Amino acid sequence: MTSILLIEDQRPIRDLIEDIIHDVDDSVEIRGVSTRHGILETYPCRKWDCIISDFQLDEGNVVDILGDIIRKNDRAPKLLISGYISDEVVTKAKGLGFHTFLQKPFDPAQLVKWLEKNSIIGQEKKEETPPHPLRRKEDFLVRNALFAMDKKAGLLNQIINWPSCSAVSVQEICIHALRTAQNITKAQNGILCLYDNPSGELVEMARIILQSDPRQGELRHPITKTPFKPLLDNAASLLHLQCKDEIWPDLQVESDFLALTIKLQGQPAGVLCLTDIGRALTDLESEIGLLELLVGQLDITLDNKAVHAALQSNMKETLIALARILDARDHYTKNHSANVSKYSVKLAKALGLPGDRIEQIRIGGLVHDMGKVGTPDAVLLKKGPLTDEEYEIMKLHPVIGYNCLAHIDSLGIEKIVVRHHHERWDGRGYPDGLLADATPIEARIVGIADAIDAMTTSRCYRKAQPLSFCIDQLKKNSGTQFDPLLVEAVLPLVENGMIKSTLH
Ligand SMILES: [Fe+2]
Repeated sequence: MTSILLIEDQRPIRDLIEDIIHDVDDSVEIRGVSTRHGILETYPCRKWDCIISDFQLDEGNVVDILGDIIRKNDRAPKLLISGYISDEVVTKAKGLGFHTFLQKPFDPAQLVKWLEKNSIIGQEKKEETPPHPLRRKEDFLVRNALFAMDKKAGLLNQIINWPSCSAVSVQEICIHALRTAQNITKAQNGILCLYDNPSGELVEMARIILQSDPRQGELRHPITKTPFKPLLDNAASLLHLQCKDEIWPDLQVESDFLALTIKLQGQPAGVLCLTDIGRALTDLESEIGLLELLVGQLDITLDNKAVHAALQSNMKETLIALARILDARDHYTKNHSANVSKYSVKLAKALGLPGDRIEQIRIGGLVHDMGKVGTPDAVLLKKGPLTDEEYEIMKLHPVIGYNCLAHIDSLGIEKIVVRHHHERWDGRGYPDGLLADATPIEARIVGIADAIDAMTTSRCYRKAQPLSFCIDQLKKNSGTQFDPLLVEAVLPLVENGMIKSTLH
């Protein structure tokens, strides 16, 4: 018996697809699933002859699970049925192994034709009895109502489920909003701008322009030179104009455009503009309702993002203050964290790392030794060499520091730096004995900066060493303690005076 795995969260659509298939061939076994849990429970229980799936369920997208299902059923024909098949969806689907797509609402004959072509149905074809003309009309109306309902459910899901504001930038939030708005209206092009009050300019945050390369850099435009001024003045909350013109650089309108006010905390703060929708305002009623819901959600999401950013900044300031307090415990090492952070940033810049990672390295450098909060004074401040037992106590500080930060999700890289800044390239470091590049580069950078500052500043148990000693040590320990590529990158910085030994 031929088996089909049908992944679709809307029960009426699932029933409809089953009816269409069983009308032609009732020997096919169809297992319909609607939730992540259902998929995970059902798909491993057998090999499937065919997979029909939507991408987006009520609970979010299921791309991750689909990848596994498709690998395990690589010979089964696969069909993606979705309410909105954009270029992005097609690329993602092709990457997973889907080569056929049906956009809802689809003609049942297209589904039957595809199933027959792939020999999924037709072996035990039912004898055809032409349906009553009245029933055919009813079927058509019901089917279209079902597809319309399914489309609305999908759009609502997209409006409500935003990417987590801790993980994405304001720009990514704006891109999500614009994509959703485009899905709602099927507009050809669109831009989303926020208003910069002091300069009186609109700043482009996201754009979707068909057949055009993405623009680099930030695009600004004086509000007075755009048609959007009434939206920012609170004189209108919606503009729908028939025109053929360029309303924004590179945003040519061929027929009409629709623009809505974006509000932040109730105040006009930007514009969402969609062009070439090609419908009268009266036909857009239900889409406008969804767009209004979308800009409301955008307000909440950007507000959450601002609160989250403020909390994160406060938390980082608190951590840095803690690191300063720790440095102050030992007057010999009072600038140690600041130095390590400074040297790490210089090395990261020399390596060409992007700005956001350099910022993580800066904070990681400042807090790398925060676990020393748990190291007793008798060990931390001891003049003279440590005993083996004392050294073991000292070696606990990376794990203590990591455990302090373990539950702060937004400090992912900083936590890694705290835990692994004493790993060695040859795997003989601590706490985890990671070998070579198993230690993330951020921790390797802070590790080498830490060693440089330790050599070039005075400690309670020895005087600062000259730079020549530091250079010799870096060369001598390249490939054992230190990553050779990092030594190569840091040596010119040390030789060119990036670091000043306190001996001089
Ligand atoms: Fe340390």
